[in-house]
Amino acid sequence: MSADIFLAGMRRIAGAVTVITTTGSNGERRGLTATAVCSLSVEPPSLVACVNRKTWVAQFVRDAGVFAVNVLSHSQESIARTFAGHTPLAGADRFSSGDWRAGRTGAPVVAGALASFECRLGKLIEHTTHVILIGEVVETAIGDGDSLVYLDGSFSAVPRQQPAA
Ligand SMILES: Cc1cc2nc3c(=O)[nH]c(=O)nc-3n(C[C@H](O)[C@H](O)[C@H](O)COP(=O)(O)O)c2cc1C
Repeated sequence: MSADIFLAGMRRIAGAVTVITTTGSNGERRGLTATAVCSLSVEPPSLVACVNRKTWVAQFVRDAGVFAVNVLSHSQESIARTFAGHTPLAGADRFSSGDWRAGRTGAPVVAGALASFECRLGKLIEHTTHVILIGEVVETAIGDGDSLVYLDGSFSAVPRQQPAA
């Protein structure tokens, strides 16, 4: 099987777009756009994120021991592009895109996200090119807006159902 056909298949998975953030022991913030995030368990509340080991977040999160998963709304596409490296901004400079604050764990949380999950790093599993982060969720913030998804190499909006009156 070629890598191309594998990638073509993966591009057909619509993924909710998140920004995973952490703050290193030196106080420096780092973040990257990620779709490889999913729920793990409710009791205890936990999630899984898969991050390339070459990224700043993979390098900082070991010492930091905390990270946050910010689920972006459709209005936050420019933040997704910034943290995916689609602009010249790198490292801590990426946080000039969006309105960020330090959450309960110290990891950066963005205003206007659909949801933000603040995590303690439960386990870090090394696997080939990536690290698998298991996050124990200590705080969840909820926001409003349509969902930002990535499908077939493009960002698009998925409207959220309004609750019945
Ligand atoms: C829609 C989208 C989803 C992405 N998902 C992931 C992901 O789940 N894990 C990952 O390691 N990189 C993912 N990336 C790539 C990183 O966002 C990108 O390589 C980023 O610039 C890494 O930051 P750094 O190398 O400056 O630390 C994704 C990129 C895009 C555009």
